Amino acid sequence: MKEITAGYALCGSFCTISDSLSALRNLAATGMNIIPIMSPIVYNTDTRFTEHLSLQKRVKEITGNDIIHTVEGAEPIGPRKLLDVLIVAPCTGNTIGKLANGITDTSVTMAVKAHLRNQKPVLLAVATNDALSASARNIGQLMNLKNVYFVPFSQDNAISKPTSMIADFNKIPEALEAALEGRQIQPILN
Ligand SMILES: Cc1cc2nc3c(=O)[nH]c(=O)nc-3n(C[C@H](O)[C@H](O)[C@H](O)COP(=O)(O)O)c2cc1C
Repeated sequence: MKEITAGYALCGSFCTISDSLSALRNLAATGMNIIPIMSPIVYNTDTRFTEHLSLQKRVKEITGNDIIHTVEGAEPIGPRKLLDVLIVAPCTGNTIGKLANGITDTSVTMAVKAHLRNQKPVLLAVATNDALSASARNIGQLMNLKNVYFVPFSQDNAISKPTSMIADFNKIPEALEAALEGRQIQPILN
C-alpha cells in the first residue's frame, strides 16, 4: 500500500463523514500518498454534523495534501495520471446518479471521469436514503461498469428507513486491496 497514490473523495452524506475520516486516518497510517477531494457542498457547507473550515483543516492534516474541490482542480487527474485508485467515501445518491448518467459537474464527478479514462479502479462507499428506491437503478448500472467497485453495504435501518443503505467504512482497506487487483470483494451485500 505504501507506494500507492490514492484519491479520497468526500461527498455530502454529512452524517457519515466522521466514519469516513476514521477510514481516511487508517489509510494514511499505512504511508500511502492520499490526494483529498471534496464535492462543493462538503467543501463549503456547515451542517449539524460538520463545520466546513474545520473539516478542511482536518483532512489537510491527515493527508498532508491540498484538497481538490473544483472541476478544474480535478481535471489533471486524467492527463497527468495522478492516481492509482480513487475512493469515493461517502458517495451520495446525487453523485451516484451523475456517475451512472455521465454527468460531470463537480470536483468528484470530474475526478471519477478523469480517473476512469486511465482505466484504473474506482471504489464507491455508498450512503444514501434512496439506495433501494430512486438510486437503485443507478447503483445497478454502476455495478455493471468496468473498473468500478463497491465497499460492501447494507440496510442501516430497515424499519424506519426502509430504502436506505450504507457502506461499511471499516471494510475500505480490504475493498481497496481487492479493487487494486481488479476484484470486487464479496459479499458485496453485508
Ligand atoms: C445534513 C445533510 C445530510 C445529508 N445526508 C445525505 C446522505 O447521507 N446521503 C445522500 O445521498 N445525501 C445526503 N444529503 C444530501 C446531499 O448532501 C445533496 O444531495 C448534495 O447535493 C450532494 O452533493 P454531492 O453528491 O456533490 O456531494 C444530505 C444533506 C444534508 C444537508
